[in-house]
Amino acid sequence: MKINLIEKNIKKTKSDIEIIIVSSIEKVEDKNILETLGFEPKDEAVILLPEARKIYVGCENSDYDSIAIAASAGIKKFNSTKFKNAKISLEKLSLKALVEGASLGSYTFNKYKSKKEKSKKQELNICVDKITSKLQKTLNESIVISNAVNRTRDMVNTTPEDFYPGVMANVAKDIADESNLHCKIRGEEYLEKNDMNAMLSVGRASVHESKLIHLSYKPKNAKKKVVLIGKGLTYDSGGLSLKPADFMVTMKLDKSGGCAVLGIMSAIAKLNLPVEVHGIVGAVENMIGGDAYKPDDVLTAKNGKTIEVRNTDAEGRLVLADCLCYAQEEIKNIDYIFDYATLTGACVVGVGQYTTGVMGNNTNLKREVVANALDAGEYATSLPFNRFLRKTIKSEVADICNVASTRYGGAITAGLFLENFISEENKEKWVHFDIAGPAYVEKAWGYNPYGGSGAGVRMTLEFLKNIQK
Ligand code: BES
Ligand code: ZN
Ligand code: ZN
Repeated sequence: MKINLIEKNIKKTKSDIEIIIVSSIEKVEDKNILETLGFEPKDEAVILLPEARKIYVGCENSDYDSIAIAASAGIKKFNSTKFKNAKISLEKLSLKALVEGASLGSYTFNKYKSKKEKSKKQELNICVDKITSKLQKTLNESIVISNAVNRTRDMVNTTPEDFYPGVMANVAKDIADESNLHCKIRGEEYLEKNDMNAMLSVGRASVHESKLIHLSYKPKNAKKKVVLIGKGLTYDSGGLSLKPADFMVTMKLDKSGGCAVLGIMSAIAKLNLPVEVHGIVGAVENMIGGDAYKPDDVLTAKNGKTIEVRNTDAEGRLVLADCLCYAQEEIKNIDYIFDYATLTGACVVGVGQYTTGVMGNNTNLKREVVANALDAGEYATSLPFNRFLRKTIKSEVADICNVASTRYGGAITAGLFLENFISEENKEKWVHFDIAGPAYVEKAWGYNPYGGSGAGVRMTLEFLKNIQK
């Protein structure tokens, strides 16, 4: 979908159809007909008046979510017609919410459909009084951001047969080539030589070689140094602690953290941000087989800590443990170190399907990232660490155990496990994002389609845009 700004009064702008976002029908031209049709200005309410060539969409209030949901509903209706171009008036709406709602809402994934819908080359013209450089910049940025989210969704939705660690590494190389990023891909020989035994063990039973991906963007005027680390489990069968059949379905989603990091890296140079950003992904497949790692094994992570494995399905934290160590050894003077992972079912139970769990030791930083997430249109909330839960991951046989001794607070105990792999100097700089809920949902809602959502991308780009201020 092409989106343009047009400096013209909406009435004088030619188009096939007009999209009208309304929060009250009182002053609307077609009030009577809308009333007759039972239209109410609520989320996702949409009505097409073909004769009048108008699409009316409801909007509950003026926040990002309401506008983006309305734009998405309008665009979906427009996409279902054969009209080529639509117009919409910006008026008092947020351009960012409008553009992102429209681009994210019109996303479709039909790679595995035998009959592919032809892309219709539709266009949306947004009418404004004056095209200021600020508006133009917002439009360009919102398009870059939406493309990064949609690209992340494409990766997440791709099947494990088509998207295994080697493929993920190739996608990373493509992203690096496009944006002139530096790209290092390491295989299992490297993991072995560099004592990344935790990550290596998780991928041992897979026919696909594990890959450690490291992209970096180093602009000359960099003001801060940020490291983003993603869990890239291209499939999580649970390993020998095998998942029950119903829980295994959708586990292609377990690469979402890594995909989000790649999505963010694909946008970073295009946004021209004066921030050094490193994107590190542990791409691994967790499978069963004679060579599989086992409950009862003790693994030594890159920082020398020993880990008792009691459940091979708690594999993400093992991969991340080594990736966190790698990042802190390779990159010095880090300002922020964030990790993204579909880490625990417990997080979904705790905060719901659309919300990211935010953990770490720095209260102000957590507050800041949650605020940025909400501004960017993602839901996030802080989950607190405490001394009691920290004790529950102690092990009788090794330094630490990969599962807690309590069944409660599983998202937090997973976060506390990761804390063991953060060096003292980075303790306050680290934030862990558990995106198990929002990363993949089997029901479309608002501008989120069925499947991968691209969780983590918008909130992080918002954070990166704001730290230069
Ligand atoms: N990838 C899963 C977590 C997950 C569950 C993500 C549901 C998205 C939706 C993770 O590797 C896992 O299996 N975690 C276990 C940990 C447990 C064994 C301590 C879980 O959450 O049950
Ligand atoms: Zn698992
Ligand atoms: Zn997993």
